[in-house]
Amino acid sequence: THNLTHVCLFRSPSDRDGMAEEAKKLAGYAAVDNHVQNNQVVGVGSGSTIVYAVDRLAERVRQEKLNIVCVPTSFQARQLILQRGLTLSDLDRNPELDVAIDGADEVDAALTLIKGGGGCLTQEKIVAGCAKHFIVIADFRKDSSALGQQWKKGVPIEVIPMAYIPVSRAIAKRFGGEAVLRMAISKAGPVVTDNSNFLLDWKFEHAHNWKEVNTAIKMIPGVVETGLFVGMTVCGSECVLWDGGW
Ligand code: 5RP
Repeated sequence: THNLTHVCLFRSPSDRDGMAEEAKKLAGYAAVDNHVQNNQVVGVGSGSTIVYAVDRLAERVRQEKLNIVCVPTSFQARQLILQRGLTLSDLDRNPELDVAIDGADEVDAALTLIKGGGGCLTQEKIVAGCAKHFIVIADFRKDSSALGQQWKKGVPIEVIPMAYIPVSRAIAKRFGGEAVLRMAISKAGPVVTDNSNFLLDWKFEHAHNWKEVNTAIKMIPGVVETGLFVGMTVCGSECVLWDGGW
């Protein structure tokens, strides 16, 4: 059973984008301060928000002399753990985690997540699934009443490279919309994940039963994992109210 805390941030509506970094930092710090204790195994997510959480974790480990072991969800997370001088582990040595902390691209009212904007969704879901508590750090821009309102790029889906066209066609046929191969910024080729796979971004046309869709997409041969995190969130939400000041 997972016990998710959704740390969401609110602030004055002016200067929305300018305040995003401060909001991410506050969310990351709050997650570590409220949910990490001594002698724990901590899953480290991927993306830009998690950097703030890891900064705070490294600070607490130094100041409080904590004994913390970190399991990464990506190459980026692995590098971050090493760069900040934290203890690196893996699921071989630590298959059970006390807590996993990660970002999200969008969080809906039912606490269903879209993840994988950075392409790390498969390892993120594995690590979250091994944790007693899964803490999602999401700033105010990720908060939506229905998926698709905030994150416009669709649901990321990791696929075996040879299957990307059949999978894309199967998704469009069954659920509508379009599942597009994610290309590198240079356009020289597709994005390749840490698992040597490709990514499809499924731009859906309307709301779905995300639990059913997630299960159905995962049954298509060639699909490795989806960026839909459904039902990993059973404990409601905790909101940090922020008025814009420190
Ligand atoms: C990477 C992820 C990230 O957690 C998600 O994209 C959020 O990233 P950021 O904190 O940079 O907004 O799922 O695969």
